[in-house]
Amino acid sequence: MKKISLGMLLIAVGGVLISGCLFQGDGANLDTQLRAIITEQNLSGDPSLGRELPNIEEPLPQLGMLLFYSKALSGTQDSACVTCHHPALGGGDGIPLSIGVGAPSPDLLGLGRTHPDGPQVPRNAPTTFNSALWDQFMFHDGRVESMGKTSGMNGNDGYGIRTPDRPWGYPDILAGDNLVVAQARFPVTSEEEMRGFDFGTGHGNMLEERNRLTRDTLEQIVGGYGAEKDTLTTNHWLEEFQKAFNSAADAETLITFDNIVLAIGEYERSQVFVNTPWKDYVGGNQDAINESAKRGALLFFTSSAAGGADCATCHSGDFFTNEKFHTLAIPQIGPGKESGTYGDDDWGRILETRKDKDKYAFRTPTLLNVEVTGPYGHDGAYATLESIVRHHLNPQAAIANYPFDQVDPSIRTINAKEYTNQALEQLLKNRQAGGNLTVKDINLSDEQVQDIVNFLQTLTDPCVKDRACLSPWIPDENDPNPDGMRLNAINQNGEGL
Ligand code: HEC
Ligand code: HEC
Repeated sequence: MKKISLGMLLIAVGGVLISGCLFQGDGANLDTQLRAIITEQNLSGDPSLGRELPNIEEPLPQLGMLLFYSKALSGTQDSACVTCHHPALGGGDGIPLSIGVGAPSPDLLGLGRTHPDGPQVPRNAPTTFNSALWDQFMFHDGRVESMGKTSGMNGNDGYGIRTPDRPWGYPDILAGDNLVVAQARFPVTSEEEMRGFDFGTGHGNMLEERNRLTRDTLEQIVGGYGAEKDTLTTNHWLEEFQKAFNSAADAETLITFDNIVLAIGEYERSQVFVNTPWKDYVGGNQDAINESAKRGALLFFTSSAAGGADCATCHSGDFFTNEKFHTLAIPQIGPGKESGTYGDDDWGRILETRKDKDKYAFRTPTLLNVEVTGPYGHDGAYATLESIVRHHLNPQAAIANYPFDQVDPSIRTINAKEYTNQALEQLLKNRQAGGNLTVKDINLSDEQVQDIVNFLQTLTDPCVKDRACLSPWIPDENDPNPDGMRLNAINQNGEGL
């Protein structure tokens, strides 16, 4: 006979009741509680609803794909956007800290990619998947920011977008129409990612001026005009730009830096992967996820006061992020981003806001497709979902157990442990101050942690694990290779990605 739990009785008697405590129950009980949460938190399961999104088969995203894969956009001609954002690597690069220019095997992506001096990029490459779904900030520290932050608009709400080219608080009139195109103006200006250390005709004193010179030089290289007329030995880009923009104009008119990043942005914005088992479940299919994942979901969406794990206070809504910044004290294993006593620490959001509470704060990541976007944290300090989840539940214990000595010495700053302890102090300070959200210490059983991990795995769109399904976003021999400089990615075994 089916046992009637106290929870079911209460729900039957008192209508929807979820705020008291978490009832362990059979499947039907779990479904009832989850349906109540879905209604209460107004979830549709689909964060792409109501948005205008490009399709990868359209001409502009097609051009963007060719540019995304071309090493001609790097000052050293050995790095491309795809170097750190390959669709078969979850839209990232699968390594803790990215390696851009100067890799001995430029086309080798993922594990096994090396640099003679260790990784030069201070942070983990976030996925480009679903980048059309951000409405407030790009980057771990939010240095590209929508001034309007209107939901559903990806920054395209008429208020403008602030970028590192402009002072704090001012929109950048060159930023373009959405957050993704605004972001795409910057990787080519980063010395470690794409620019290299001695590129271009002049350096300029101001960062903004230097960035402008870099972009001017690149548009001439791709366009085959001006001082860079003959830099590419093969150059058929004009045909591709004419097709994509449906125009017969000449290279100087069509192949501008603004048009280059517009196309790249539309390619990225076409990478929408939201058809998850969780979406199916929210849509009404009770069997779309298993019981363990349902228990995990219940913990995920329930506050700690009510016996849950509190995850959805920050990983909120259908995109699983509040797009705000929080200090979690993830071990600081990177080479650092020009902060701290020796310039080898990464203080995160405070570098933008100068507010103390933002020290070591980073943007809440989306959790869609998180199963394939590891390693985790702003510097890829954790290799597995279980370990990053456990860090949230007790940062102090996680840091005490973190194998700092085993981190590749070419990766970590020698001060990693000290900086991590400073981050922990900041977290404790933020907890005490109250007012802004912090992770709380939460006691869960091993089984409950596993339930949460199982729930996180229901946020994977099967397409991102299926090479054939991803193939529209990966050029092959049937696609044009306008400069002969396409990055044909291989893994460490020499197999094509
Ligand atoms: C060497 C590796 C590397 C290369 C090359 C590279 N990126 Fe990135 N990308 C990163 C890293 C690392 C970050 C995070 C940096 C930060 O937050 O400070 C990032 C951030 C981003 C983001 C922000 C995602 C988010 O969730 O906020 C987008 C979009 C992106 N890159 C697109 C591009 C494009 C387009 C190109 C080529 C023009 C490119 N990247 C080249 C490593 C790379
Ligand atoms: C106080 C806000 C907050 C809460 C509560 C919270 N998170 Fe996070 N989460 C973050 C932030 C911020 C990061 C990124 C931190 C960093 O990179 O330094 C993150 C990172 C993650 C990541 C790594 C994602 C990636 O792409 O690197 C996972 C997985 C994750 N959280 C799951 C959870 C789960 C599960 C819970 C509940 C147990 C939870 N989070 C609770 C803010 C929060």
